[in-house]
Amino acid sequence: MEIAQTSHGTAAKNHLVRCISCGEANRMLAADFRCSHCGDLLEVDFPQWPQGLLLQPEALKSVWRLRKTLYKPLDTSGVWRFREMLPELDDSESVITLREGNTPLYDLPRCANSAGVEQLRAKHQGMNPTGSFKDTGMTVAISFARQNKFTWVACASTGNTSASMAAYAARGGMRSLVIIPEGKIAWGKLSQSLDYGAVTCQLRTDFDGCVRVLNDIIRRYPIYLLNSVNPYRLEGQKTAAIELLEQLDWRVPDHVIVPGGNLGNNSALGKAFLEMKRLGLIDALPKISVIQAEGANPLYRTVHEKQGRELVPVEAETLATAIRIGSPASWKKSLRVIEATGGCVEQVSEAEIAVAKAEIGADGVGCEPASAVTLAGLKKLVKSGFVRPPESVVLILTGHVLKDPEYTIQFHRGDLKVPRMADDDFRQLTAKQRRSPIVLEADADAVLRVLDSEDKRDG
Ligand code: F0G
Repeated sequence: MEIAQTSHGTAAKNHLVRCISCGEANRMLAADFRCSHCGDLLEVDFPQWPQGLLLQPEALKSVWRLRKTLYKPLDTSGVWRFREMLPELDDSESVITLREGNTPLYDLPRCANSAGVEQLRAKHQGMNPTGSFKDTGMTVAISFARQNKFTWVACASTGNTSASMAAYAARGGMRSLVIIPEGKIAWGKLSQSLDYGAVTCQLRTDFDGCVRVLNDIIRRYPIYLLNSVNPYRLEGQKTAAIELLEQLDWRVPDHVIVPGGNLGNNSALGKAFLEMKRLGLIDALPKISVIQAEGANPLYRTVHEKQGRELVPVEAETLATAIRIGSPASWKKSLRVIEATGGCVEQVSEAEIAVAKAEIGADGVGCEPASAVTLAGLKKLVKSGFVRPPESVVLILTGHVLKDPEYTIQFHRGDLKVPRMADDDFRQLTAKQRRSPIVLEADADAVLRVLDSEDKRDG
């Protein structure tokens, strides 16, 4: 079946969908969500702001707070309760929600100490219904898919987008197609997509190869694309920034640090901060910085080798499989946000990621490897002087600790094989963080001897 262009909806009600390069408003959205004029990415624009908003900033803040005490699905969702800042559906009956958002903001005192800052917080987006930040974007984009009468939705994924999409599609009575790289997906994520009933195809390629195959599929089959090139995904992901500020009583932190993969998330958070400033909800911006794994560092290289002028794609390799991406779609959006907020891009090694992940765990919070790049990156930014110790810092933790238990167990047992580093060196470097399980006979004395030796170690 050959379909030149399927109707992926027309921009409606309170918003337009505009090209980030030529500025053209796209009325009919193409299947690949690219500009019909120049082929670049699109973004949602609210041309009538701030005059078009019925509520003043202080009234908006109180309405959002009030909704937390109400019980309608749209109000209990930590995404839709901020609906004044989201694109409006023709009919709110189309909304598919799992009560996403409403994620905790944690203090990380031990991590603060090891990074050398006075105060460190983590906004844990891994505490969403499917265990990652993807749910906040998914609820919005898939609701637009439903409004446009799609029965099939699809994504290429490193595992979290697919888990999220599969769940939301199932909730909405839709079919979903998951395209993932074979052997490079954490078990927790693969198991989710199977359980939620997605058609799950593991292709013998990497994430970037999966994106290429899916682009071919969407030209030939009427299926709604739910990767983060879909501008509605990023709209939902904005709400983490709004909720963060609400949790900080609208005091803007100095720094927000985000992991970088396909680069949609930092673009979404940045868009939210810029829009909140435009609407008078805040009067300053945090510096938004992006951290990549050294083995999957296209944005880092783009900035340092090409001064941001053109993308430097890489062959990606990292144990933080969520961000194993060599050719990120949203690199231009991401750079715009980093520039507009005065942030920076840093890269971190596999060993630095592993140590940071164990430290976040030891603060009683935990996260998946990709999220831990934020703490590893912060340490480097403190050393370089970009972050000063008294400044307030928020790490965006993107995925739940249970997403990738294999990594965690291998790390603590001392079996993790880290690229570009000798096993012995890695084990030595991580000795302080590792906590191997202790196998004993079924004997209280044996366990008590372990407690004795722990007491001696602590004392
Ligand atoms: N952290 C986690 C846990 C992720 O799953 C991802 C992306 C990122 C960070 C990077 O976010 O792409 O917006 O820069 N995961 C995608 C996926 C690519 O398919 O699940 P980004």
